[in-house]
Amino acid sequence: MTEETADLEPLSDADALDFGRYRNIVILTGAGVSVASGIPPFRGPGGLWNDPKVERFAHRDSLDEDPEGAWRFFALLRSTARKAQPNAAHQALARLEKSLRPDQSFLLISQNVDGLHQRAGSRRMVELHGSVLRTRCTGAECDLEPFDDTETYADTKPICPKCGSLLRPDLVFFGEMCNHEAEWQTKQALRRVDLFVAVGTSGTVYPANGYARSARYAGAETIYINVELMEGGDDSFDRTILGKAEEVLPRIVAETGMRL
Ligand code: OAD
Repeated sequence: MTEETADLEPLSDADALDFGRYRNIVILTGAGVSVASGIPPFRGPGGLWNDPKVERFAHRDSLDEDPEGAWRFFALLRSTARKAQPNAAHQALARLEKSLRPDQSFLLISQNVDGLHQRAGSRRMVELHGSVLRTRCTGAECDLEPFDDTETYADTKPICPKCGSLLRPDLVFFGEMCNHEAEWQTKQALRRVDLFVAVGTSGTVYPANGYARSARYAGAETIYINVELMEGGDDSFDRTILGKAEEVLPRIVAETGMRL
């Protein structure tokens, strides 16, 4: 064991998480949770944003500058998400939610836009960064509601049927605000949380990278699960478990006897 990993908690029966001990559980997930489903992460090995030609599509401006190119990229994300299947990590979190007592509150906050948590059966969740599977209008005044969309619009410039503005995926670009309702639910949950677990996130993107600190402030036990240590560290976490989400989460949920 190196000095760097000396503080890491081994995952053993003795250290397993007893979810029954907590009243208000908040789980934060990031792209690492969907890697085993074949969806590339944004950063690190194989990360989408490693290529500047791709990274520009994280910015809202790219839609105006190159709508066809932007939609080619979103089409790829959309079809990849649609073809993917939830993996053992998604399933473990859905199982955990179903196994809780009525007096326990639970919120799964996901930064992922692939819809895989819902497909695995998670219900009490917020999509902090929206969904690549939905489309909405760019028109500020337009009343077109975001809708589930199977079209991919690759290489096209799709137009709103109501107002003629460009259509966009219903996800949050860099620099945009998160969905108001999602943030409100998140804030409520973080006020009373007593167990906070972040899984498969690099911890680089605001506002989710501040949630461990809020949880700590609320008095929660805070745990970080990832295949690598967070760059720069985050002293808001009490424990770090190094491992793949799809291996660690099913073990934690099973070991606590919460498997349904
Ligand atoms: P990142 O791609 O930044 O980080 C993914 C993390 O998952 C990295 O720390 C990897 O080491 C880790 N990882 C990879 N495989 C894993 C596995 N099998 N199990 C556990 N961990 C694994 O993704 P996020 O933190 O989610 O925004 O990024 C946050 C936001 O930045 C995204 O939601 C996205 C992006 O711009 C939008 O799409 C709006």
